[in-house]
Amino acid sequence: MHAFVSPTPDATPVWLVSPDNWEGVKTSIDAAATAFAERCGFKPKAGRIQLLPGEGGTLAGALFGVDGESAPTRDPFAAGKLATSLPEGVYRFANAPHDADLAALGFLLALYRYNRFKSDSAPKPRLVAPDGVDRDRLERIAAAVAFGRDLVNAPANVLGPRALEQEAVKLAEQFDASVSMVRGEELLGANFPLIHAVGRAAGEEPRIVDFSWGREDAPKVALIGKGVTFDTGGLDIKPASGMELMKKDMGGAATALTLARLVMQEGLDLRLRVVIPIVENAISAPAMRPGDVLISRKGLSVEVGNTDAEGRLILADALALADEEAPELMLDFATLTGAARVALGPDLPPFYTDDEALAGSIGAHAARVRDPLWRLPLWRPYEAMIEGTVGDISNSGSGGGMAGSITAALFLRRFVDKAKAWAHFDVYAWNPKPRAHGPAGGEIQAARALFELLTERYPRR
Ligand code: BES
Ligand code: ZN
Ligand code: ZN
Repeated sequence: MHAFVSPTPDATPVWLVSPDNWEGVKTSIDAAATAFAERCGFKPKAGRIQLLPGEGGTLAGALFGVDGESAPTRDPFAAGKLATSLPEGVYRFANAPHDADLAALGFLLALYRYNRFKSDSAPKPRLVAPDGVDRDRLERIAAAVAFGRDLVNAPANVLGPRALEQEAVKLAEQFDASVSMVRGEELLGANFPLIHAVGRAAGEEPRIVDFSWGREDAPKVALIGKGVTFDTGGLDIKPASGMELMKKDMGGAATALTLARLVMQEGLDLRLRVVIPIVENAISAPAMRPGDVLISRKGLSVEVGNTDAEGRLILADALALADEEAPELMLDFATLTGAARVALGPDLPPFYTDDEALAGSIGAHAARVRDPLWRLPLWRPYEAMIEGTVGDISNSGSGGGMAGSITAALFLRRFVDKAKAWAHFDVYAWNPKPRAHGPAGGEIQAARALFELLTERYPRR
């Protein structure tokens, strides 16, 4: 599914047609085909697909409408629509896409389906990799994204804390990383009190997975991901509508693991550390309560204003751990707040950093590979909103939900000290509707952008 086919002489040509080149394309397809397309009402508009009949019931080719040079809404992944619309067969682009890499990647990403419980036997179109693209690299990216989407799509009854740990360990072992984990009561002895407090009410024990990979003296890069396999909200229970999608609350962990896989399979020259705190935020007698005060790994006392703000609690201990070895770069990913999606919608995750150079670089790489990210501020005056009444800080704050994604980021910042640079990504990890580059359901955001950034900074030796 994540692969191109090798060039064959009989691959069906697909012409990418915009208002700018339609007249030119007409001269390269035969007159009968042009007449047929026009009789069918084909217009060179983005997203239109027109099949061209050949002799004896065959398919001579297809026209695919794309935006012209001047269109502000140009979707570089639009070609993904071909993967879900064309009949089974082998296709090639007859003229060069505006961005061949993204068009080809869009096609592979669009073929993805979560098929663990529902087989998708519909025959699929296949694409000959366009000229000039690094075919193997694109296939590796598509496979890594599919791996991450599978994790997000897996329901919480099959991907609980134990299974998510196993997935992380399996990935680490595939690349000969050294991996360790701490579970259940041992979290207290190993000083992860917040991870324990959030996860102790669940049927499967809370845990932390920690793996390291790469040349030991290479620059240190740490990835941290929120691994809440299901978020009921805890005692501050969510309403049904708010709980519906909460199997995706390990989307940050899936993002961190996807990025880790990209880094390892590419062999980038860095010392990678991946820290995944894993819990189910459940309800039973030992559940943490609103008003509880917890002493974190770092020593800060944290007041539980709301048991539904569990992500920042487990991340606090995980960030503190990764921070202890003063990495050059620390990146965390989390489906942390509903407020992020209210501010920017599902497709544009906000990110936070105090490092201006890093912010610029993240923005540039995100734009280049069309994995959009938008910087929001670590707005210091709002620190007042996370002050605790009896503890140092509160996990819910006093803002009444105002600036919720910002106050969550400010909370995390308190646990980062020694890292030379840190950025936090409040991802949604979900497509509410099908996109050109993938179906509705689990999505991996920010990983491709950061893979570009890391590839530029730490190229393989
Ligand atoms: N996992 C949720 C955040 C979330 C909700 C992400 C919906 C994507 C879609 C998180 O644990 C949470 O519940 N956050 C609360 C925090 C609040 C209680 C301070 C929120 O955002 O409402
Ligand atoms: Zn929550
Ligand atoms: Zn959550």
